[in-house]
Amino acid sequence: MGGTMTVRKTTRKTTVGAIDSTVLNFTAGSDLLLDMALVNADCMGSAAHVTMLSRMPVRPKIITEQERRAVIRELVAIMRDADNGGFVIGLDDQDVHLAVERVLTARLGDLGKKVHTGRSRNDQVAVDLRLFAREQLIGTVREALELARVMFVLARRHVDVPMVGRTHMQPAMPSSVGLWASAHAESLLDDVALLMAVYDLNDQCPLGSAASYGVPLPIDRELSSRLLGFSRPVHNVLYANNARGKIESMILSALSQVMLSLSRLAHDLMLYTMPEFGYFTLPPEYGTGSSIMPQKNNPDVVELVRARVARVMACELAVKDIVRSLPGGYNRDLQETKGPFMEGLATTRGCLQSLALLMGRIQINEEALIRGFVPGVFATDRALELVAGGMPFRDAYHHVKEHLAELATMDPRRAIRKKTHLGATAGLDFDAFDARMASGRQWADEEWTAHCRAVSKLMGMKYPVT
Ligand code: ARG
Repeated sequence: MGGTMTVRKTTRKTTVGAIDSTVLNFTAGSDLLLDMALVNADCMGSAAHVTMLSRMPVRPKIITEQERRAVIRELVAIMRDADNGGFVIGLDDQDVHLAVERVLTARLGDLGKKVHTGRSRNDQVAVDLRLFAREQLIGTVREALELARVMFVLARRHVDVPMVGRTHMQPAMPSSVGLWASAHAESLLDDVALLMAVYDLNDQCPLGSAASYGVPLPIDRELSSRLLGFSRPVHNVLYANNARGKIESMILSALSQVMLSLSRLAHDLMLYTMPEFGYFTLPPEYGTGSSIMPQKNNPDVVELVRARVARVMACELAVKDIVRSLPGGYNRDLQETKGPFMEGLATTRGCLQSLALLMGRIQINEEALIRGFVPGVFATDRALELVAGGMPFRDAYHHVKEHLAELATMDPRRAIRKKTHLGATAGLDFDAFDARMASGRQWADEEWTAHCRAVSKLMGMKYPVT
């Protein structure tokens, strides 16, 4: 009291100065945890940066060839340590970038302190996130294609199995399980195309933009970009930093589209597995029972997909809301986009994986599907038969409307065989679907191979290690 200021003895010494520990806890936030997912990427980015520095045409050299090799050797060791739980990001590190610098300096002395020359944590985290996104997007594309593949298998196998086609949820026209399943799969193929588009936008290297405004050194940004397997650098150094959050939100909006597809699928599954419909039965090992009701087997996976759609969309909105009113250049707010970005990716991938398992073992109940064919389902087909005999469509429409009961004898199997035009029950071009699947898979394989080759070459190791 008495006007004296309490001196808080709680400051912590960090690589970049003393910081109050409460503030440090607050500002590091979730980075200590989330940045563990960026260790590999951070080491790759640093390897590219030191390689670029070692080739920089300045005398004396900032980093010699021999020093470059020593740094990269330690970066590889850090990647291995991280794999075995031997690398930790402490509170005094604040984030992965300074944790790596701490280890490099501990192991290499002054050389470790040179690595940050001409670089900022701002372009460092930006490049880390793009490398992380690259791997994640390839994985997401593969998993979306796997679910699509399972759905196409289901569709092919049940192309002749009738299923009531609905509009407004009411019975509408004869359809098939083949049409239903391949519709959901085709939706995923469009999502894959969108994922590839955002992948291409992500495929630009922000390294060398430093704090947001470049540096007065002859930085070779093309070289860093090439070393990391990017197809090009982000051109403008300020945009390279402003794009943080923007690129994440583009990726999240592609993920939202994936989730939108899954949401529609989840809704159908929820409905058609209800005992009152009984069209499909979910594999019991992918549901859970009740602790009180012995008879229960609940569609938990489908329900959680339904909820997680909302979460991924919330992640997209969170990132957009954080960046929408930021001034240009790096702002610490950007750190908060990391959590929703990573969550959106992990959640989408988890949903794709679980649904692929589920759809691979779903049971199709043909009898129940056929039982769903109330006579009215054939009304339009019947009217068109009358049209074929010369009756104007509107007259045929009214005639059928007045004689609905007469449709009771119509055969659903015959009905779905008669729709032979493009994309209808008997006109599904599975070969065209296969071609789209194959080109998606080839794309993922090529991108993954190119990525691993670039990293392996840069780091002088086999990547991935396992
Ligand atoms: N953890 C920080 C982030 O995610 C790294 C960049 C920190 N940069 C800074 N100027 N404080 O944004």
